[in-house]
Amino acid sequence: MGTFMLCKHVSNSLQFLSRGLIVRTTQTAAATAPKIDARLKDFSIYRWDPDVPGQKPKMQTYQVDLNSCGPMVLDALIKIKNEMDPTLTFRRSCREGICGSCAMNISGVNTLACTCKIDENLGKTTKIYPLPHMYVIKDLVPDMNNFYEQYKSIQPWLHKEEEGKLGQKQNLQSVEDRAKLDGLYECILCACCSTSCPSYWWNSNRYLGPATLMQAYRWVIDSRDEATQERLERLKDPFSAYRCHTIMNCTKTCPKNLNPGRAIGELKKLMAGIAKKDTPQMTGSV
Ligand code: SF4
Ligand code: SF4
Ligand code: FES
Repeated sequence: MGTFMLCKHVSNSLQFLSRGLIVRTTQTAAATAPKIDARLKDFSIYRWDPDVPGQKPKMQTYQVDLNSCGPMVLDALIKIKNEMDPTLTFRRSCREGICGSCAMNISGVNTLACTCKIDENLGKTTKIYPLPHMYVIKDLVPDMNNFYEQYKSIQPWLHKEEEGKLGQKQNLQSVEDRAKLDGLYECILCACCSTSCPSYWWNSNRYLGPATLMQAYRWVIDSRDEATQERLERLKDPFSAYRCHTIMNCTKTCPKNLNPGRAIGELKKLMAGIAKKDTPQMTGSV
């Protein structure tokens, strides 16, 4: 028994000693680890709070250590909100370029904060504004109501004559017809394109803008849809589609690499087709 007690005592002491050794070793390692210099980067962010009477919009600068921040601009915004200023307001959800809610203007380009890499040039301030030419609700949050109303106006769903039967059976489509929707259906309605379009800036109440027009085209060419003519008719006025002047800012800025400018061009060709049909034919017997 005595031997057992002694052994236990010795064993405990050894454990204590070895633990002490481990702790000391860890401390020594931490002390000798090379010190990583902070990589401080300035983010200058548009701020406006409607609840502060008389407050004018201003830019506010935050310094973020890139060593403790994820690689994307959205990571920096989340870090600022969590660690420095909980009043900073912006939209985000999926953080992987799917929901479209984190669209904003970063260093002069409309894009998604979650897929936009932080420029690691520490001498350069990253400037962040809400999407341009939109009413601002707060900070980086634009009012999207007009944009969504316009999207709704093109009736972005399948029209079949026998509407009642929709959903009761599959609406099949050939592989070729389905392929025609590639490059169109992937749009996440982030509005980066529409808010980069000068025509949309000046006429956003009447011109539908590239995002909505690309979706109009997507439904017009869907082989399963039976309202092609009506869809084209609805766009015939001088503003809805014809305010596009092929400047192509929309295509340049799309964070999903889609081509709304081309889609609008194709849509206009189809509209020209129905316009021709509508024009009374001249006869020689006038
Ligand atoms: S076309 Fe591109 S930029 Fe425009 S709403 Fe769709 S995803 Fe966004
Ligand atoms: S191509 Fe048309 S929709 Fe696109 S930016 Fe130019 S004017 Fe706007
Ligand atoms: S958070 Fe969803 S697209 Fe950026």
